[in-house]
Formats: sequence, C-alpha cells, structure tokens
Amino acid sequence: MIVQNSLLDSLEQTESLGLGLSLLPRFFTTAKLWPFIQTVLEQAPLRHLFTPGGRQMSVSMSNCGEYGWVSDKRGYRYTKVDPLSEKPWPMLPTALCTLAHQAAQQAGFKQFTPNACLINCYKVGARMSLHQDKDEADALRSDAQPIVSFSLGLPAIFLVGGLKRSDKTQHLILQDGDALIFGGPARLMFHGIRPLAAGEDTLLGAQRINLTFRRAYD
Ligand code: SIN
Ligand code: FE2
Repeated sequence: MIVQNSLLDSLEQTESLGLGLSLLPRFFTTAKLWPFIQTVLEQAPLRHLFTPGGRQMSVSMSNCGEYGWVSDKRGYRYTKVDPLSEKPWPMLPTALCTLAHQAAQQAGFKQFTPNACLINCYKVGARMSLHQDKDEADALRSDAQPIVSFSLGLPAIFLVGGLKRSDKTQHLILQDGDALIFGGPARLMFHGIRPLAAGEDTLLGAQRINLTFRRAYD
C-alpha cells in the first residue's frame, strides 16, 4: 500500500493507494455542501457519544439518511431514529448522495447507494482511535459496499493499518474537498485520525467535518 504524501501531492485524479483504497483529491467544493450539512445539524445537533466502555468521544457526531450510527453503553449500532429527538434522522440530501455515488464509481464501485451518512466534527485536539467499520449488515461479506469519506475544513492525518489492530500503520493527509473510498480488500482495514492540529479554515473555522457514507442495511 503506497500512501506517501509526496506521491499524493502530485496527483490530480483518482489515485489507487492500494487494493480497494482510493483518494480523490479535491473531489468536491465544500462551499456547495456546507449549507446542506448545516441544515441537517439544525435538525439533529452534533453530540459527544459514549463508547460502550463509558468513555466520551472527543469527536462530536450526528447523522442523516435512513439509518444513523450511534454508540452508548448498549454498543455500536445503526438506528432509524435519533435518540435525542426520538424522530427519524434528517433525510440524506440528494446532492450529497449523488456525489458519494459518483466518488464510489470513480473508485470502481459501481452500485453504491448510501442509506446512512455519519457526520463527524473534530475540534482542535479531537481524534479517532484505530477501528474497523463493521457495523454494516454486509461488512463481513466479500461483496460488501464500500465506505465513502468526505473531508471538509482543516486537514487531518488519517492512519491506515491492516486487518489487525497491531498491524503497522501508514498515514496520509486528508484535505478539504478530498474523497477517500475504501472497499474490496481495504473494506475492513483499521483506520483512525490523529489529534487535529490547530488552524483556521476560511469557511469552517477551527474544525474539521468528515462525512462517511455507508450502506448500513441492504
Ligand atoms: C471514521 O472513520 O468514521 C472517520 C474518519 C475520518 O474522520 O476521516
Ligand atoms: Fe471509520
């Protein structure tokens, strides 16, 4: 898996970083997506969830789409209803759904139609420890749908490991407007985000927003 930034810097189009992992630098324009996300967050505000072990996450989260990802002492899972409002999660805006579909297509996954979008908000210092995305119904199947990730705002260091938590990690920088797609052999790779470095994005300020589009259930 080649994930050196010197290599990434010179790339303009889809770059396959290894089997099933692709980066599409500057794939979307944040100014066009941000209003949709703000509308979603007015209906389903960001909140700091607790891990099943009882630790509060440094990243705050919300969702849109038919399903939303949640975590609490009962475990990690997808729900159709926002536990805060007890109402369905806000709809996944069509513009976002279409862009996620196009990103997957460019990475070689033709049939991706997400029905869940997790919104992660990183303030300076927030991080995400190494984990696998495996709460989706098809995650362990060889024909699993990919995960499509969009980065907005401040840049972040994304860690990529292997299929075991103890595998060596490499890193790449995710910048504003980048799409990262992981599917196929990379679908269950361990990944995480280093503590967000201080900075100021012209549109989003001192934060990073990450959207991950998923097919939670068939
Ligand atoms: C995640 O793995 O859910 C988030 C990844 C990211 O913030 O880029
Ligand atoms: Fe993840």
